[in-house]
Amino acid sequence: MRLLLSSLWIRPLLSLSALSLVGCVSVTPQTQGRAVAMPEARSQAPAKPRSKRSAPPISAAGFARRISHSSVPTSEKLLAMTFDDGPHPKLTARLLDLLAQRGVKATFFVVGRNVRTYPALVRRMIAEGHEVASHTDTHPSLTKLSEAGIRQELERTEEAIVAAAQIKPVLLRPPYGATNERVNRQAFSQFGYQTILWSVDPEDWRRPGPSVVASRLVAGAHPGGILLAHDIHAGTIDAMPQALDALLAQGYRFVTVSQLLSSATVLP
Ligand code: NI
Repeated sequence: MRLLLSSLWIRPLLSLSALSLVGCVSVTPQTQGRAVAMPEARSQAPAKPRSKRSAPPISAAGFARRISHSSVPTSEKLLAMTFDDGPHPKLTARLLDLLAQRGVKATFFVVGRNVRTYPALVRRMIAEGHEVASHTDTHPSLTKLSEAGIRQELERTEEAIVAAAQIKPVLLRPPYGATNERVNRQAFSQFGYQTILWSVDPEDWRRPGPSVVASRLVAGAHPGGILLAHDIHAGTIDAMPQALDALLAQGYRFVTVSQLLSSATVLP
């Protein structure tokens, strides 16, 4: 039996002892000097597509307790396409055109500093039905920051998004996927954010070429999957027509991460 859980996403704070955290990955943050718009460096070997079997349903109460997700249990052919590190003045605009041509809704995890520079692109994302969420203000490893440091990163980003588009984000993607229970709890208790990782990583930031990025996204896709990409690399944008068209042809429908969470298949 499938229940829609949309109402559960606006709910009172959970007791910390009840939290069940899933989907966290260990990472090795990149050490290059750029502060913004860096790729998600991971310690793992190149991505191998995960099983196409969708995650098994869980109890509604169990799902509602989760504040971190890397995929969503559903038997429906739903995917969440996510883009990190933008907005980028040229590439994000081109991507939005590609998405609009296909009726694809995506989720943009934006960097606060870029939002302040390109607020019109954030307004366009919202106007065209996409979700805009936090990827921090300066792209640090949140696990290395104090509580005050994390608060500042999330506050500034939220203020930038609200100022640009009058929308309060409800999701966080930690840079590099670097998170832990402390970060997840703080993001949820102080900002109401669910922490969102991913289940399909084409490692587009390594710039393997558009056809490789596209084939990795297609090979990794599974019902309830959250696909990671970065709208700051031209090769990623070039990969999207092939990837999106192939997945649409397979019967997948693209929804925002919040819509995907609301479509979870749960047991009563
Ligand atoms: Ni990033």
